[in-house]
Amino acid sequence: MHTMRETFFLLLSTQPIWLLLLSLLGFFTILRHSTTAVQWVFRVFLRPSKDLRYYGSWGVVTGATDGIGKSFSYQLARAGLNLILVSRSSTKLKAVSKDIRSQFPNTKVKIIELDFTEDDISAGMAEFKKVIQDLDVGVLINNVGITYPNASFFHEVDEKVWMNVLKVNVKGTTWVTKAVLPRMITKNRGAIVNIGSGAAVIVPSHPLYAIYAATKAYVDQLSRSLHVEYKHWGIDVQCQVPLYVATEMASRVASVSRASLFIPSADDYVSAAIHRIGYEPRCTPYWAHSLQWCFARLLPEAALDMWRLSIGLHRRRKGLEAMKGIEGYKQE
Ligand SMILES: NC(=O)c1ccc[n+]([C@@H]2O[C@H](COP(=O)([O-])OP(=O)(O)OC[C@H]3O[C@@H](n4cnc5c(N)ncnc54)[C@H](OP(=O)(O)O)[C@@H]3O)[C@@H](O)[C@H]2O)c1
Repeated sequence: MHTMRETFFLLLSTQPIWLLLLSLLGFFTILRHSTTAVQWVFRVFLRPSKDLRYYGSWGVVTGATDGIGKSFSYQLARAGLNLILVSRSSTKLKAVSKDIRSQFPNTKVKIIELDFTEDDISAGMAEFKKVIQDLDVGVLINNVGITYPNASFFHEVDEKVWMNVLKVNVKGTTWVTKAVLPRMITKNRGAIVNIGSGAAVIVPSHPLYAIYAATKAYVDQLSRSLHVEYKHWGIDVQCQVPLYVATEMASRVASVSRASLFIPSADDYVSAAIHRIGYEPRCTPYWAHSLQWCFARLLPEAALDMWRLSIGLHRRRKGLEAMKGIEGYKQE
């Protein structure tokens, strides 16, 4: 009479080697996917947020008067940080600042009017550096970002439009990061969050928004490299990768009119985003976005390319129709 253990090994020894190897491979694949799933649940739902005051008492938010940046401003104030808000419209900056101070009376708020599309932002950056020089800036949310007004083929994009996309998304992000880093290095702590996009990371291509996607790939690679460069200085650099979030930008480019299961409101997105600050170098903070990423990885790249191209062409057609409508209206 064999014991169960003996029967098991006897059964194994009678199997062909290829079947054993295949079963082993299957076992490790299941183990790897289960570990990833458990890790995801932990990171997204269970892991505690970092206390952002550890990094310093002030937070900087660029593009702070609307959408994701505006939500970050309120939620950083709630987390106990004083704020330096950077955006191009002083009227909107004053309104946001006033509202934050009324909701969080202990929060100090400084505003800096800076238009990143200006050819020469050295004066604005000098002002920014002057404002932050005596402040303990611990957190930077490099959020400002723009895209084209309409989906367009690369050769159709107006020079002014694509130059502005580069100036805001690439130059702006780089300038502001360079300005806050020296102080973070001296005190050996800091968190830099760069807002990337699924357009550069999750889908293999973003046709008819090529320059936007390329600038976000820059943000992604800059973040990853800075994460490695500055980790030993106690500075956590991270690229956050959102998919659609119901903001003014999403309504303009993708006709998103309201939040839904897969398209969070800016507030819901930012609640998840704050929770991830200081951890992985790249993350997709909102749970439904990471599920979409997971599904996208199951599809062949050629299928995703075709799908994105058809969406781009559809939006281009709608954009052209809308422009014709406006021109017709002007002529009447
Ligand atoms: N929404 C999405 O679906 C989505 C998806 C992926 C990635 N993202 C990224 O998330 C970030 C925020 O997007 P959002 O949807 O929140 O955008 P948004 O609603 O359009 O808000 C953009 C903010 O940036 C400011 N801004 C625009 N141009 C500027 C300039 N030239 N100089 C200074 N400030 C300027 C705006 O200020 P004004 O109020 O003065 O215009 C506003 O505060 C961007 O980097 C975007 O690429 C968004």
